[in-house]
Amino acid sequence: MKPLVWITRQLPEESISPLREIAEVKMWSSADQPMPAEELKQAAGEADAMWVMISDQITREVIEVAPKLKIIANLAVGYNNIDIKAAKEKGVIVTNTPDVLTGTTADLAFALMLATARRIPEAEREVRNGKWTGWSVNQLTGMDIHGATLGVVGMGRIGEAVARRGMGFDMRILYHNRTRKPEAEEKYGFEYAELDTLLKESDFVVLLTPLTPETKGLIGKSEIALMKNSAILINVARGGVVDEQALYEALLNKEIWAAGLDVFETEPVPTDHPLLTLPNVVVLPHIGSASIRTRNNMMAKNTESIAACLQGKEIKNPVK
Ligand code: DGY
Repeated sequence: MKPLVWITRQLPEESISPLREIAEVKMWSSADQPMPAEELKQAAGEADAMWVMISDQITREVIEVAPKLKIIANLAVGYNNIDIKAAKEKGVIVTNTPDVLTGTTADLAFALMLATARRIPEAEREVRNGKWTGWSVNQLTGMDIHGATLGVVGMGRIGEAVARRGMGFDMRILYHNRTRKPEAEEKYGFEYAELDTLLKESDFVVLLTPLTPETKGLIGKSEIALMKNSAILINVARGGVVDEQALYEALLNKEIWAAGLDVFETEPVPTDHPLLTLPNVVVLPHIGSASIRTRNNMMAKNTESIAACLQGKEIKNPVK
Protein backbone atom coordinates (compact mmCIF):
# COMPACT_ATOMS: atom_id res chain seq x y z
CA MET A 1 0.00 0.00 0.00
CA LYS A 2 1.23 3.48 -0.88
CA PRO A 3 1.99 5.89 1.99
CA LEU A 4 -0.42 8.76 2.53
CA VAL A 5 0.63 12.40 2.20
CA TRP A 6 -1.78 14.98 3.59
CA ILE A 7 -1.46 18.56 2.26
CA THR A 8 -3.33 21.14 4.30
CA ARG A 9 -4.21 23.42 1.36
CA GLN A 10 -5.32 23.00 -2.24
CA LEU A 11 -2.10 23.37 -4.25
CA PRO A 12 -1.37 23.40 -7.99
CA GLU A 13 -1.23 19.86 -9.30
CA GLU A 14 2.12 20.38 -11.07
CA SER A 15 3.85 21.25 -7.78
CA ILE A 16 2.94 18.00 -6.16
CA SER A 17 2.83 15.59 -9.09
CA PRO A 18 6.15 13.89 -8.15
CA LEU A 19 4.50 12.87 -4.88
CA ARG A 20 1.59 11.21 -6.68
CA GLU A 21 4.03 8.73 -8.19
CA ILE A 22 5.11 7.43 -4.81
CA ALA A 23 2.20 8.14 -2.51
CA GLU A 24 -1.50 8.65 -2.17
CA VAL A 25 -1.99 12.41 -1.83
CA LYS A 26 -4.91 14.04 -0.07
CA MET A 27 -5.36 17.81 -0.17
CA TRP A 28 -7.60 20.09 1.86
CA SER A 29 -10.35 21.51 -0.31
CA SER A 30 -9.49 25.21 0.09
CA ALA A 31 -6.53 27.15 -1.29
CA ASP A 32 -7.10 30.11 1.06
CA GLN A 33 -8.60 28.78 4.26
CA PRO A 34 -6.72 26.61 6.74
CA MET A 35 -8.02 23.21 7.77
CA PRO A 36 -10.14 23.43 10.91
CA ALA A 37 -8.37 21.97 13.97
CA GLU A 38 -10.52 18.83 14.10
CA GLU A 39 -9.96 17.97 10.42
CA LEU A 40 -6.24 18.63 10.88
CA LYS A 41 -6.12 16.10 13.71
CA GLN A 42 -8.01 13.54 11.63
CA ALA A 43 -5.58 14.05 8.76
CA ALA A 44 -2.61 13.62 11.09
CA GLY A 45 -4.21 10.45 12.40
CA GLU A 46 -3.94 8.72 9.01
CA ALA A 47 -0.94 10.44 7.38
CA ASP A 48 2.58 9.14 6.80
CA ALA A 49 3.66 12.63 5.79
CA MET A 50 2.13 16.05 6.36
CA TRP A 51 2.72 19.13 4.26
CA VAL A 52 1.66 22.10 6.37
CA MET A 53 1.54 25.90 6.23
CA ILE A 54 2.50 28.52 8.83
CA SER A 55 -1.19 29.03 9.51
CA ASP A 56 -1.52 25.41 10.73
CA GLN A 57 -0.90 24.92 14.43
CA ILE A 58 0.87 21.58 14.67
CA THR A 59 0.60 21.12 18.41
CA ARG A 60 1.62 18.23 20.63
CA GLU A 61 -2.02 17.12 20.52
CA VAL A 62 -1.89 16.84 16.72
CA ILE A 63 1.45 15.03 16.75
CA GLU A 64 0.33 12.59 19.43
CA VAL A 65 -2.66 11.37 17.44
CA ALA A 66 -0.45 10.56 14.43
CA PRO A 67 0.81 7.00 14.84
CA LYS A 68 2.33 6.64 11.34
CA LEU A 69 3.61 10.16 10.86
CA LYS A 70 7.25 10.34 9.72
CA ILE A 71 7.63 13.89 8.47
CA ILE A 72 6.07 17.33 8.80
CA ALA A 73 7.19 19.55 5.91
CA ASN A 74 6.50 23.20 6.70
CA LEU A 75 6.08 25.51 3.72
CA ALA A 76 8.09 28.31 5.36
CA VAL A 77 11.50 28.97 6.80
CA GLY A 78 10.01 29.79 10.22
CA TYR A 79 8.54 26.88 12.18
CA ASN A 80 7.12 28.40 15.34
CA ASN A 81 3.75 26.89 14.35
CA ILE A 82 5.10 23.39 15.06
CA ASP A 83 5.81 21.85 18.46
CA ILE A 84 9.35 20.76 17.59
CA LYS A 85 9.93 19.14 20.98
CA ALA A 86 6.83 16.96 20.62
CA ALA A 87 7.85 16.00 17.07
CA LYS A 88 11.33 15.08 18.23
CA GLU A 89 10.00 12.96 21.08
CA LYS A 90 7.80 11.05 18.63
CA GLY A 91 10.65 10.67 16.11
CA VAL A 92 8.88 12.83 13.51
CA ILE A 93 11.19 14.80 11.23
CA VAL A 94 10.33 18.46 10.66
CA THR A 95 11.60 20.24 7.56
CA ASN A 96 11.42 23.86 6.40
CA THR A 97 12.24 25.80 3.22
CA PRO A 98 15.35 27.93 3.83
CA ASP A 99 17.50 29.62 1.15
CA VAL A 100 14.92 29.81 -1.63
CA LEU A 101 12.99 32.66 0.02
CA THR A 102 15.92 34.72 1.30
CA GLY A 103 16.09 37.33 -1.47
CA THR A 104 12.32 37.60 -1.87
CA THR A 105 11.77 38.27 1.83
CA ALA A 106 14.67 40.73 1.93
CA ASP A 107 13.10 42.55 -1.04
CA LEU A 108 9.86 42.88 0.88
CA ALA A 109 11.65 44.23 3.95
CA PHE A 110 13.14 46.87 1.71
CA ALA A 111 9.78 47.57 0.09
CA LEU A 112 8.37 48.25 3.56
CA MET A 113 11.31 50.51 4.37
CA LEU A 114 10.65 52.54 1.24
CA ALA A 115 6.88 52.53 1.70
CA THR A 116 7.04 53.77 5.29
CA ALA A 117 9.92 56.22 4.82
CA ARG A 118 8.42 57.86 1.73
CA ARG A 119 4.79 57.40 2.82
CA ILE A 120 3.93 55.64 -0.43
CA PRO A 121 0.53 54.11 0.54
CA GLU A 122 -0.57 57.39 2.15
CA ALA A 123 0.46 59.32 -0.96
CA GLU A 124 -1.33 56.87 -3.22
CA ARG A 125 -4.51 57.18 -1.13
CA GLU A 126 -4.35 60.97 -1.47
CA VAL A 127 -4.26 60.79 -5.25
CA ARG A 128 -7.09 58.25 -5.49
CA ASN A 129 -9.24 60.08 -2.96
CA GLY A 130 -8.98 63.40 -4.78
CA LYS A 131 -6.93 64.97 -1.96
CA TRP A 132 -4.11 66.01 -4.31
CA THR A 133 -4.81 69.68 -4.70
CA GLY A 134 -1.42 70.69 -6.08
CA TRP A 135 2.29 70.65 -5.33
CA SER A 136 3.39 72.04 -1.98
CA VAL A 137 6.69 72.21 -0.12
CA ASN A 138 5.68 70.06 2.85
CA GLN A 139 3.41 67.70 0.98
CA LEU A 140 3.96 64.13 2.20
CA THR A 141 7.56 64.72 3.14
CA GLY A 142 9.24 61.60 4.49
CA MET A 143 12.58 60.20 5.52
CA ASP A 144 15.62 59.39 3.43
CA ILE A 145 16.85 55.84 3.26
CA HIS A 146 20.14 56.61 1.56
CA GLY A 147 22.83 57.51 4.03
CA ALA A 148 20.67 56.43 7.01
CA THR A 149 21.60 53.81 9.62
CA LEU A 150 20.01 50.40 9.24
CA GLY A 151 19.78 48.13 12.29
CA VAL A 152 19.10 44.48 11.55
CA VAL A 153 17.94 42.41 14.51
CA GLY A 154 18.51 38.75 13.66
CA MET A 155 21.38 38.34 11.24
CA GLY A 156 20.47 35.06 9.59
CA ARG A 157 20.32 34.57 5.84
CA ILE A 158 17.49 37.09 5.36
CA GLY A 159 19.02 39.61 7.77
CA GLU A 160 22.26 39.52 5.83
CA ALA A 161 20.40 39.91 2.52
CA VAL A 162 18.60 43.00 3.88
CA ALA A 163 21.88 44.42 5.14
CA ARG A 164 23.52 43.89 1.74
CA ARG A 165 20.66 45.74 0.08
CA GLY A 166 21.32 48.59 2.53
CA MET A 167 24.86 48.87 1.19
CA GLY A 168 23.39 49.82 -2.19
CA PHE A 169 21.68 52.73 -0.45
CA ASP A 170 24.92 53.87 1.19
CA MET A 171 23.61 52.96 4.61
CA ARG A 172 25.60 52.35 7.77
CA ILE A 173 24.71 48.82 8.82
CA LEU A 174 24.41 47.72 12.44
CA TYR A 175 23.33 44.24 13.39
CA HIS A 176 22.41 42.34 16.50
CA ASN A 177 22.46 38.57 16.63
CA ARG A 178 22.95 35.72 19.09
CA THR A 179 26.35 35.10 17.54
CA ARG A 180 28.62 37.57 15.82
CA LYS A 181 29.31 37.28 12.10
CA PRO A 182 33.01 38.15 11.74
CA GLU A 183 33.03 37.21 8.04
CA ALA A 184 30.20 39.61 7.22
CA GLU A 185 31.83 42.30 9.36
CA GLU A 186 35.08 41.86 7.48
CA LYS A 187 33.61 41.48 4.01
CA TYR A 188 30.84 44.11 4.10
CA GLY A 189 31.75 46.37 7.02
CA PHE A 190 28.64 45.48 9.04
CA GLU A 191 29.00 46.55 12.69
CA TYR A 192 27.88 44.36 15.56
CA ALA A 193 25.92 46.23 18.24
CA GLU A 194 24.18 45.33 21.48
CA LEU A 195 20.43 45.59 21.07
CA ASP A 196 20.16 48.82 23.11
CA THR A 197 22.85 50.52 21.02
CA LEU A 198 21.28 49.36 17.79
CA LEU A 199 17.88 50.68 18.84
CA LYS A 200 19.34 54.03 19.87
CA GLU A 201 21.42 54.57 16.75
CA SER A 202 19.32 53.14 13.91
CA ASP A 203 17.01 55.08 11.60
CA PHE A 204 15.47 51.80 10.44
CA VAL A 205 15.16 48.80 12.74
CA VAL A 206 14.35 45.64 10.78
CA LEU A 207 13.27 42.59 12.77
CA LEU A 208 14.24 39.22 11.38
CA THR A 209 14.52 36.96 14.40
CA PRO A 210 12.63 33.68 14.56
CA LEU A 211 9.86 33.58 17.17
CA THR A 212 11.15 31.60 20.14
CA PRO A 213 10.53 31.85 23.91
CA GLU A 214 13.62 34.13 24.00
CA THR A 215 12.42 36.53 21.28
CA LYS A 216 8.73 36.70 22.25
CA GLY A 217 8.02 40.34 23.09
CA LEU A 218 11.67 41.24 22.41
CA ILE A 219 10.63 44.72 21.28
CA GLY A 220 8.42 46.13 24.02
CA LYS A 221 7.76 49.52 25.56
CA SER A 222 11.25 50.05 26.98
CA GLU A 223 12.99 48.92 23.76
CA ILE A 224 10.82 51.19 21.61
CA ALA A 225 11.56 54.04 24.03
CA LEU A 226 15.24 53.75 23.07
CA MET A 227 14.49 54.40 19.40
CA LYS A 228 14.78 57.84 17.79
CA ASN A 229 11.56 59.82 17.27
CA SER A 230 12.41 59.74 13.57
CA ALA A 231 13.01 55.98 13.48
CA ILE A 232 11.03 53.37 11.57
CA LEU A 233 10.35 49.81 12.76
CA ILE A 234 9.95 47.06 10.18
CA ASN A 235 8.73 43.59 11.14
CA VAL A 236 8.95 40.84 8.55
CA ALA A 237 9.68 38.13 11.13
CA ARG A 238 6.78 37.16 13.38
CA GLY A 239 4.19 39.35 15.09
CA GLY A 240 4.96 37.94 18.52
CA VAL A 241 8.45 39.49 18.50
CA VAL A 242 6.84 42.91 19.08
CA ASP A 243 4.50 44.06 21.83
CA GLU A 244 1.76 45.43 19.55
CA GLN A 245 0.08 47.53 22.24
CA ALA A 246 3.39 49.22 23.09
CA LEU A 247 4.04 49.79 19.38
CA TYR A 248 0.59 51.30 18.89
CA GLU A 249 1.07 53.71 21.78
CA ALA A 250 4.54 54.73 20.58
CA LEU A 251 3.27 55.41 17.05
CA LEU A 252 0.21 57.26 18.29
CA ASN A 253 2.34 59.47 20.54
CA LYS A 254 4.94 59.98 17.78
CA GLU A 255 7.66 58.40 19.89
CA ILE A 256 8.76 56.70 16.68
CA TRP A 257 8.00 57.84 13.17
CA ALA A 258 6.42 54.87 11.44
CA ALA A 259 6.16 51.10 11.27
CA GLY A 260 5.98 48.63 8.39
CA LEU A 261 4.41 45.33 9.38
CA ASP A 262 4.09 42.16 7.33
CA VAL A 263 3.31 40.02 10.38
CA PHE A 264 0.99 40.21 13.38
CA GLU A 265 0.41 38.44 16.65
CA THR A 266 -2.95 37.25 15.30
CA GLU A 267 -3.19 36.55 11.58
CA PRO A 268 -5.21 37.59 9.72
CA VAL A 269 -4.98 40.80 11.77
CA PRO A 270 -8.50 41.83 12.86
CA THR A 271 -9.72 44.82 10.84
CA ASP A 272 -10.51 46.70 14.06
CA HIS A 273 -6.93 46.33 15.34
CA PRO A 274 -5.76 49.72 16.73
CA LEU A 275 -2.59 49.63 14.58
CA LEU A 276 -4.76 49.77 11.46
CA THR A 277 -6.16 53.15 12.51
CA LEU A 278 -2.79 54.88 12.25
CA PRO A 279 -1.64 56.64 9.06
CA ASN A 280 2.02 56.05 9.90
CA VAL A 281 1.68 52.26 9.73
CA VAL A 282 1.99 50.26 6.52
CA VAL A 283 0.40 46.84 6.85
CA LEU A 284 0.74 43.78 4.65
CA PRO A 285 -0.83 40.30 4.90
CA HIS A 286 2.31 38.20 5.59
CA ILE A 287 3.59 38.16 2.01
CA GLY A 288 7.34 38.09 2.73
CA SER A 289 8.03 35.12 0.49
CA ALA A 290 5.17 35.70 -1.95
CA SER A 291 6.77 35.87 -5.37
CA ILE A 292 5.65 33.33 -7.96
CA ARG A 293 9.13 31.92 -8.43
CA THR A 294 9.86 31.66 -4.72
CA ARG A 295 6.56 30.03 -3.85
CA ASN A 296 7.21 27.48 -6.61
CA ASN A 297 10.68 26.86 -5.23
CA MET A 298 9.30 26.47 -1.72
CA MET A 299 6.77 23.92 -2.94
CA ALA A 300 9.52 22.06 -4.80
CA LYS A 301 11.50 21.86 -1.55
CA ASN A 302 8.57 20.43 0.35
CA THR A 303 7.93 17.88 -2.40
CA GLU A 304 11.60 16.92 -2.32
CA SER A 305 11.71 16.56 1.48
CA ILE A 306 8.61 14.38 1.65
CA ALA A 307 9.72 12.22 -1.28
CA ALA A 308 13.17 11.75 0.26
CA CYS A 309 11.67 10.77 3.60
CA LEU A 310 9.18 8.30 2.15
CA GLN A 311 11.90 6.73 -0.01
CA GLY A 312 14.40 6.50 2.84
CA LYS A 313 16.77 8.99 1.21
CA GLU A 314 18.74 11.85 2.79
CA ILE A 315 16.53 14.78 3.82
CA LYS A 316 18.07 18.11 2.96
CA ASN A 317 16.30 20.57 5.24
CA PRO A 318 15.62 18.99 8.61
CA VAL A 319 14.98 21.44 11.42
CA LYS A 320 17.69 20.80 14.00
C1 DGY B 1 8.47 32.06 6.42
O1 DGY B 1 8.92 31.38 5.50
O2 DGY B 1 8.70 31.82 7.60
C2 DGY B 1 7.63 33.18 6.02
O3 DGY B 1 7.20 33.93 7.10
C3 DGY B 1 6.45 32.65 5.23
O4 DGY B 1 6.16 33.49 4.19
